[in-house]
Amino acid sequence: MIEITIDGQTVSVEPGTTLLKAARAAGIEIPTLCAHEGLPPEGNCRLCSVEVTERGKTRLAMSCMYPANRDGLVVRTDTDRVRTARRFVLQMLADRNPKAPALRSLCEEYGVTPSAPEGVEPELCIRCGRCVRACETNGTNALSFAGRGWEREVTPPFHEASEDCIGCLSCAEVCPTGRITWEEKGRKRSIWGRAFDMVECERCHDRYATLEQLRFTGTDPETARLCPRCRKTLQQGRIRLGNREL
Ligand code: SF4
Ligand code: FES
Repeated sequence: MIEITIDGQTVSVEPGTTLLKAARAAGIEIPTLCAHEGLPPEGNCRLCSVEVTERGKTRLAMSCMYPANRDGLVVRTDTDRVRTARRFVLQMLADRNPKAPALRSLCEEYGVTPSAPEGVEPELCIRCGRCVRACETNGTNALSFAGRGWEREVTPPFHEASEDCIGCLSCAEVCPTGRITWEEKGRKRSIWGRAFDMVECERCHDRYATLEQLRFTGTDPETARLCPRCRKTLQQGRIRLGNREL
């Protein structure tokens, strides 16, 4: 373990722990948009900036990417410089995405008022990349960024429905703004221009996965008659399915 100082608190961490994780473990909150605990960090939004003093030099660093690797590192999470940097990031994001709910409370906290440039269509996506990383982490790789600058957007390849998409909703679940929408009607789920057949649990009737999800994970849909929750209940004790006891 190594010892670092965050906002005057001495904190012991495993070498390599990011400053964000170390701060949160010590009960110190740092605002984030692109970081997600289930995904590898990518440093897209730069909102999590902190001041780091190492070997006598102080600089701004992205806490979600910066590993604590040496004793004596000093971190300050709420200085004027840090707040100015965060305000700058929020202003850029909020001007482009004034409708994004994830930005609203942050803008209030940092005294930022969105002022969208003329001709820029307000939208929800803040280009945090969580959806793309979720899709990569799953191994499906059905989403990516296309375009540059203002035009950068999340889409399946060539803006067409992707054969690689399995309709799992991981992208929508990690999106902080609600930009990714889907629909479920009867036994069909639609997302990213594709419609998927849902699999229903024989016990609780929850439509818990798409056929493609089961196939992707190597599960035979014929044998996956129970959802994970009912399967767990089954492992913990016997359950009844209709007239049958399993
Ligand atoms: S769609 Fe959502 S998760 Fe994906 S980049 Fe945009 S805001 Fe982030
Ligand atoms: S949360 Fe660290 S760069 Fe986005």
